[in-house]
Amino acid sequence: TGLTALDYGFVNTSSTKSKITYIDGEAGILRYRGFPIDQVATKLSFVETAYLLIHGNVPSQNELENFEDNIRRHTLLHEDLKDFFSGFPRRAHPMPVLSAGVSALSTYYEDSLDPSSPAQVETSTYRLLAKLPVMAAYAHKKSIGQAFLYPDNSLSYVENFLRMTFGNMAEDYVQNPVVVNALERLLILHADHEQNASTSTVRLVGSTDANLFASVSAGINALFGPLHGGANEAVLTMLAEIQASGESVAKYVERVKNKEDGVRLMGFGHRVYKNYDPRARLVKDSADEVLNALGVNDPLLGIAKELEAIALEDEYFQERKLYPNVDFYTGVIYKAMGFPTRMFTVLFALGRLPGWIAHWREMNLDPQTKIGRPQQLYIGEQQRNLPGFN
Ligand code: CMC
Repeated sequence: TGLTALDYGFVNTSSTKSKITYIDGEAGILRYRGFPIDQVATKLSFVETAYLLIHGNVPSQNELENFEDNIRRHTLLHEDLKDFFSGFPRRAHPMPVLSAGVSALSTYYEDSLDPSSPAQVETSTYRLLAKLPVMAAYAHKKSIGQAFLYPDNSLSYVENFLRMTFGNMAEDYVQNPVVVNALERLLILHADHEQNASTSTVRLVGSTDANLFASVSAGINALFGPLHGGANEAVLTMLAEIQASGESVAKYVERVKNKEDGVRLMGFGHRVYKNYDPRARLVKDSADEVLNALGVNDPLLGIAKELEAIALEDEYFQERKLYPNVDFYTGVIYKAMGFPTRMFTVLFALGRLPGWIAHWREMNLDPQTKIGRPQQLYIGEQQRNLPGFN
């Protein structure tokens, strides 16, 4: 019947088959191409993880060098694109700036418009991986009124991004392996999560044969929302508000439980995980490590830990199987590293990029792919007539 087909939020509908990422939400398991997330996050670099997600196997030394060389070859942005960034209002949120920048790549690389050409898909993949960190750094530099820095290809992917974002200040970071490794790890933990809202968006847009840039730009916009990638920003705002208000953590939890003004415990709950998010565990360890290494004593970390402890003991959260998700502790780490709150979701986008690319390519090669076109149940007026028609 029509009713069984109605599936708000696609809770019961698989939109595709995929070989990329496996999740068992009840057991709290996440694997990239079969490898458990904790193994990937401790053994591989972010670029190796990108290769793994996109190509299906861990790269050999040769494959990795080749992959990294190709990324380096594409790090420069067209000079005119700088004017594009300059044109935004100074206080522009970096997420829409990022999605607009990615969308604009199609205008500079018209050859990318043919997604049926494997060579073009390969080049677009390198262009995206190379240019997204540069655009992310530009979006930040623009918001603080500083000059854009050119990429330095002698640095690693993550070091290069840190330098372009923080300029001279980045020397402390680039020389501090705790910071570089923590950012590598955070990007890896965000690299893919099967059919989440932004990845499904990338697939839906790509199913129309739109190119990789248009599809990823749409994915960035989907990620912007506070129920998805924007949650990392929302968590920090929530923690800062609790701190500023002087309200006790227990009282805040009560307000969440009473659903006062629809207030939610940001960074808690997940559509798929009904157990502790395996990524959140790894992020929590990193939070202590990074803050200690940087000598930062941020009371917001204490508030986060207290919130977690109270929520995990509380019936409301237990009944609904609500646990901290990947975003709960990331913000405290990004803040300690010196990123402004508004850059947090941009960091998520940098991490998720390989996943978006891997899914777009998997879909593009799958002969069973059809244009995505959900159905609806019409509940509006039956036919009625304008005056003069009977
Ligand atoms: N705080 C308080 N109550 C919650 C929360 C929360 N964070 N999340 C879910 N609930 C309650 C919800 O009110 C509902 O209760 P009831 O049955 O009484 O109506 C029940 O739990 C089920 O919630 P739902 O909204 O039907 O669950 P969903 O699967 O549609 O939503 C979610 C998943 C992630 C959107 C939601 O848990 C949420 O809004 N969390 C806060 C935002 C957040 O942290 N998002 C990041 C997700 S992980 C990273 C990413 O992929 O972007």
